[in-house]
Amino acid sequence: MKQTMMGMFLYFHSVLLGVLTILVLINAQEDQSGFISLDCGLPENSDYTEKSTGINYISDAKSIDTDKSVSKSISPAEMINHQQQLHFVRSFPSGVRNCYKIYVKSDTKYLIRASFYYGNYDNLNEPPQFDLHFGANVWDTVKFPNASRTIFSEIIYIPSLDYIQPCLVNTGKGTPFISAIELRTLNDDVYKTNPAESAKSVLSLFLRYDLGSITNLEYRYKDDVYDRIWLPYESRGDWRRLSTSLNNNDLYPNEYKPPAIVMSTAVTPVNVNAPLQFHWDADDVNDQYYRYLHFNEVEKLNGNETREFNSTVNNRVYPFFKESPEYRVSDTISSSKPLTGAKKYQISLFKTENSTLPPILNAIEIYKVKDFSESETQQDDVNAITNIKNFYRVAKNWQGDPCGPVKYMWEGLNCTSFNGLNPPRIISLNLSSSGLTGQIHYSISQLTMLQYLDLSNNSLNGPLPDFLNNLESLQFLNVGKNKLTGLVPSELLERAKTGSLTLCVDDNPGLCKTESCGKKNLSVPLIVSFSTLIVVLVVISLGFWIFIRQRVIFTNSKKRGSLESKHQAFSYTEILNITDNFKTIIGEGGFGKVYLGVLQNHTQVAVKILSASSMQGYKEFQSEAQLLLIVHHRNLVSLIGYCDEDEIKALIYEYMANGNLQQHLLVGNTNILKWNERLNIAIDAARGLDYLHNGCKPPIMHRDLKPSNILLDENMDAKISDFGLSRAFGSDFDSHISTRPAGTLGYADPEFQRTGNTNKKNDVYSFGIVLFVLITGRQAIVRAAGVNIHILEWVVPIIKGGDIQNVVDSKLEGEFSMDSARKVVEIAMSCISPNFTERPDISQILTELKESLSLDMVQRHGGEHGVTESTSSLFQSITAPFPSKI
Ligand SMILES: *[C@@H]1O[C@H](CO)[C@@H](O)[C@H](O)[C@H]1NC(C)=O
Ligand SMILES: *[C@@H]1O[C@H](CO)[C@@H](O)[C@H](O)[C@H]1NC(C)=O
Ligand SMILES: *[C@@H]1O[C@H](CO)[C@@H](O)[C@H](O)[C@H]1NC(C)=O
Ligand SMILES: *[C@@H]1O[C@H](CO)[C@@H](O)[C@H](O)[C@H]1NC(C)=O
Ligand SMILES: *[C@@H]1O[C@H](CO)[C@@H](O)[C@H](O)[C@H]1NC(C)=O
Ligand SMILES: *[C@@H]1O[C@H](CO)[C@@H](O)[C@H](O)[C@H]1NC(C)=O
Ligand SMILES: *[C@@H]1O[C@H](CO)[C@@H](O)[C@H](O)[C@H]1NC(C)=O
Repeated sequence: MKQTMMGMFLYFHSVLLGVLTILVLINAQEDQSGFISLDCGLPENSDYTEKSTGINYISDAKSIDTDKSVSKSISPAEMINHQQQLHFVRSFPSGVRNCYKIYVKSDTKYLIRASFYYGNYDNLNEPPQFDLHFGANVWDTVKFPNASRTIFSEIIYIPSLDYIQPCLVNTGKGTPFISAIELRTLNDDVYKTNPAESAKSVLSLFLRYDLGSITNLEYRYKDDVYDRIWLPYESRGDWRRLSTSLNNNDLYPNEYKPPAIVMSTAVTPVNVNAPLQFHWDADDVNDQYYRYLHFNEVEKLNGNETREFNSTVNNRVYPFFKESPEYRVSDTISSSKPLTGAKKYQISLFKTENSTLPPILNAIEIYKVKDFSESETQQDDVNAITNIKNFYRVAKNWQGDPCGPVKYMWEGLNCTSFNGLNPPRIISLNLSSSGLTGQIHYSISQLTMLQYLDLSNNSLNGPLPDFLNNLESLQFLNVGKNKLTGLVPSELLERAKTGSLTLCVDDNPGLCKTESCGKKNLSVPLIVSFSTLIVVLVVISLGFWIFIRQRVIFTNSKKRGSLESKHQAFSYTEILNITDNFKTIIGEGGFGKVYLGVLQNHTQVAVKILSASSMQGYKEFQSEAQLLLIVHHRNLVSLIGYCDEDEIKALIYEYMANGNLQQHLLVGNTNILKWNERLNIAIDAARGLDYLHNGCKPPIMHRDLKPSNILLDENMDAKISDFGLSRAFGSDFDSHISTRPAGTLGYADPEFQRTGNTNKKNDVYSFGIVLFVLITGRQAIVRAAGVNIHILEWVVPIIKGGDIQNVVDSKLEGEFSMDSARKVVEIAMSCISPNFTERPDISQILTELKESLSLDMVQRHGGEHGVTESTSSLFQSITAPFPSKI
């Protein structure tokens, strides 16, 4: 018993370590995985590691319109004593506002820093002054008090979208430029602002000092895992410096993780009885300031010595502030309310009555609250106008947020103004005389609030499409002076007749206003069933694919080429017809929206439209799409075709009537999957994965296996979806802006997250988590009391304690064979072994799962329902899945 307890303790400890490792890896700073480091102006493909910091910088070229900006280098003489990321600049001689678009992880706290080092790059010896915007908000004015100074603007911000748009704005005082943009993810618990205001206010760095510095050096990464830049503070006559030697392992950190080198020094008043005082001048009395004081006792105190102090700010008493720093323990004191209303602030630290030593202060940060209350334009409008811009290659300086700030609204647009509740919407689009060619793009119909639309005096061809009639608020439509053909939709004519729409279609020689002009447009009759709106599958008509049941093993590119068939490539117009003008959304995935579609032969399909942001990895799109077209297996969702045109990129899949496994496991789903159904799903998924791993050459790694990627057809047969896609999009995406980790939190192998090496065993790990989810009926990550708990965190200690009964989903009410459950638990445990050489191949897992199913059938056929029995043997049967050290 004692041994078991001991074993449990050790085990629990190692699990905790494992979990800690996972958490650390997710937030990892040590390996820069939460960093985005752009060297602005750096030529593409010249990524480097900065020598003094070890930070890996990449070019900004993929995040900016390189046609409207120029890359410049500062003179070699000016490079001396400046870190390498300052050696190049990107300057913006044309356009008033130029914006970056940088992909980030939404809802994640970032420290975002823009750096500017002029270095006389333009030989004008005259540093410019310009504005910095952040999306629809004004961020800062960049000015140089001294040409050889490096200027930083730094904010702490939680993006709500998966990108940010820092912009440089020419205010008539010289050409804007920028040297570097750096983003670092922060722990969510640090630098909190008043929650009531945090949505519209951000913290902007006002000052950050390393007090008592004896080296007079600046510190940042790697001393600081968050890469804050700590400046040495000049010594003062009434202060004395204290220092000790300290490295990061000696200092017990807090969540702010101030660097040991900064915390190894402090200042203290020369006069032991005098207060320690620090002050700053406010830019404006209405400004709000948050303060962060960092403490660490640097002296080993004798038994008869104490150091304790209290504090005031501008003579205001903070009764709960009583600090007594501990030796080698960092402590950060902040306040939940900002300071405001004064022109000058003075923080005083007073020795308390019984303290033998005077106060100390190791480091201080002051942040000013910035008003970022302007909302970005509504996201659907942004997506639509971005598609329009890309499709017509609109030759206007359309950058940054379309509607804001109002002064910089995109030329040709008008928007509703932000009323504090609803984000701005586009209400007017004027693209007259803009040299547009091609058809009228469907995205125009997705600007659903549009009132005015002027497309006159261009070279638009094709029909005047029906979808314009979806614009319910449209009052003015001018498509005159174009090359449109066909009929004017009767609904539009009707609206013009009733006077609700001013319609101008003049000067389109091929366009007809009445039915009598010609025969009606060819329209494909579509039958759309609304009965099942969940994800996705079509059983393709058998004749459609001759090789459907064939196991195609593709070995060389020649064979790939030979399978290229026109049938699988759909045109934009066909996609419009199949989806009935994108009528019904049935899902939304990582790569974009999924629409219900119906092929001409009446089979239902799911049409996945790849969003513009997925297109970063577009180059591989076509070859990968073709590759996926020839991967056919009954446990893999078939890709039926794709569309690779300028207008859109789309993937067309079979439609799966019973949605995905995740939906069946959701709390509140009353249709509880039976044990044998769960096993069958696991077996199907294992079969699909076995085919990808062992049936394909080269093997295909799924890289994002999870219940929402396991789809169920009308017979509840499971098929894996989205395989290979991460290869087409994920990996390439990762390599230039490392923002999208491959895989999904909870399912992704921590080993992969650590090393970045793709291996079949990463999929096996994810499969193990899926098994645990099936066994327990719980989510991989449960959020309880504000904390994310990973399934392994609670399930593994219970299993290790020998209690299988309590791990199996209680919703099954004991309707399962204990032996079968035990076997599945063993399989799942082996899948998640931290040593991935110990994880079995998926083929072996498949065999064992089939045995588990037979066990269940045999035993329960004999009437044994959920037998409770001693499980002591189990304890030995599981070969320790976690070593005591990870
Ligand atoms: C400009 O700043 C640098 C460093 O900040 C300093 O060394 C130099 O003396 C300053 N020059 C002028 C003219 O103020
Ligand atoms: C504390 O004790 C040390 C001897 O251990 C003595 O030298 C020192 O004066 C004492 N300090 C105070 C403040 O009593
Ligand atoms: C600080 O402590 C001293 C002595 O214990 C006390 O007299 C003073 O009122 C305190 N001041 C504040 C601001 O709490
Ligand atoms: C200071 O010490 C004296 C004597 O030990 C004690 O009576 C008093 O309460 C202490 N004061 C404070 C503020 O802790
Ligand atoms: C934009 O629309 C507003 C009404 O929302 C109107 O007052 C304003 O004049 C319009 N601006 C332009 C340039 O059309
Ligand atoms: C669109 O812009 C043109 C000039 O570029 C102007 O003549 C026309 O009136 C505008 N249309 C609307 C609806 O404002
Ligand atoms: C039509 O557009 C052309 C350029 O595309 C321009 O030269 C011409 O002035 C425009 N006509 C009108 C009436 O706006």
